[in-house]
Amino acid sequence: RRVVVLISGNGSNLQALIDAQAHDELGGEIVAVVSNEPDAYGLQRAREAGIDAVVLPHREYDSREAYDGALIKVIERHEPDLIVLAGFMRILTPRFVQRFLGRMLNIHPSLLPDYQGLNTHARALADGVAEHGCSVHFVTEELDGGPVVMQAVVEVAEGETEATLKEKVHAREHLIYPIAVKWCLEGRLQFGSEGATFDGMPL
Ligand code: GRF
Repeated sequence: RRVVVLISGNGSNLQALIDAQAHDELGGEIVAVVSNEPDAYGLQRAREAGIDAVVLPHREYDSREAYDGALIKVIERHEPDLIVLAGFMRILTPRFVQRFLGRMLNIHPSLLPDYQGLNTHARALADGVAEHGCSVHFVTEELDGGPVVMQAVVEVAEGETEATLKEKVHAREHLIYPIAVKWCLEGRLQFGSEGATFDGMPL
């Protein structure tokens, strides 16, 4: 099974996927990593792992539609079974989402449906929540709104700061994302008109 990973930055989740693959725990092969940011550190992680690292700078396109059209071409050249968004900081066009509907996962640093969008850790702290975490979901046209397939919860400790909370959540992201990708590649996690299923059971 073939996986294409889209990134914009550090790529620590990408690294977790690369490490899982190295331990034969991904259930597939990362055949390409694509970044819209030319200096994303994740590109280096890909190269070090011997993975095709592609830069597709959004600044060179004059519309979101044009960029996403080019991105579809780059992705399809690699014939992926699954597209994995790992810190890909772009809003996707409906055409792009439709093209890969049911075959595209994202990870988001909150317990969805709470805290969609940016600055999730700061907002959770400001609200004084007792629990926070991360969610893996299928990507639909609703930003951070597709069906959730996996979550990890962290307790918000006394004296927690945005930095410590972010670090705790990130560590959980690295644990759950490779598992979700594997189950997706194995067909255990599926996307349907009624939402997501695991081994045929509605989630
Ligand atoms: C993660 O917090 C992820 O949940 C969000 O973007 C961040 C990416 O971090 N979608 P990294 O580039 O994988 O380190």
